[in-house]
Amino acid sequence: MEVVICKSKGEASKLAAEMITKAVKANPKTVLGLATGSTPVGMYDEMAKAVKAGEVSYKQVRSWNLDEYYGLPPTHDQSYRYFMNKNLFEKIDIDLANTHVLDGLAADPEKECADYEKQIKDAGGIDIQVLGIGSDGHIAFNEPGTSLTSRTSVVYLTPSTIKDNARLFFGGDESKVPTRALSMGVGTICEAKKIILLAFGENKQDALLGMVEGGITQFCTASILQMHPDVWVFCDEAAAAKLKLKEYYAWRSATKLGK
Ligand code: PGA
Repeated sequence: MEVVICKSKGEASKLAAEMITKAVKANPKTVLGLATGSTPVGMYDEMAKAVKAGEVSYKQVRSWNLDEYYGLPPTHDQSYRYFMNKNLFEKIDIDLANTHVLDGLAADPEKECADYEKQIKDAGGIDIQVLGIGSDGHIAFNEPGTSLTSRTSVVYLTPSTIKDNARLFFGGDESKVPTRALSMGVGTICEAKKIILLAFGENKQDALLGMVEGGITQFCTASILQMHPDVWVFCDEAAAAKLKLKEYYAWRSATKLGK
């Protein structure tokens, strides 16, 4: 796991976007796994800038998103489909038909999840998976206590995630946050060939510590990424503050990135 500790969120977002731009230039048919939340917005803006500058095209890229709230229609302004359209898809030249988000209104959600897994497999798997991390160490909506080999399924949000998500979204009203979601599983995520995880701010310190330097445990589902051969963590100094080997990670990653 490479931990790139940046002076600011802006710098980290830029570096992560550069890694994606480079990969899509090398393989215009890259399959992306995408994430929502406040964290990747800056990176998505940087990706859009590269498209505008004519550096890269997403015309042949296909994407699968991590999760969607159960019970929200794609048109709902707090749905993850809506979020992706606004924050990325409308800003780049991707074909919307090539973008996939789980259907929060699926009549048979378990079938929806199984079909989603099959679509990803049929696409040849995810080349690059973008992740944020919850303050409780979750990846996608895989909360503490989730099997580290879980597959895409209906999941149940913890009170801490509901609180975090209400703080940034849903006008601050916890009662409006759905309590369930459809989410890629931990096992599904781990099958991505490369993973880019972003983490910013003091609120992510403990989660990052658990993920990078803690034991592998279902109480911090992100910790399973220690077993993955190609994970790049782009974070700011605030999120990295509790890491024991932070100076070492910063030096090693900067050397590898040629910075
Ligand atoms: P955030 O959420 O980007 O809004 O902090 C991250 C997550 O829950 O994965």
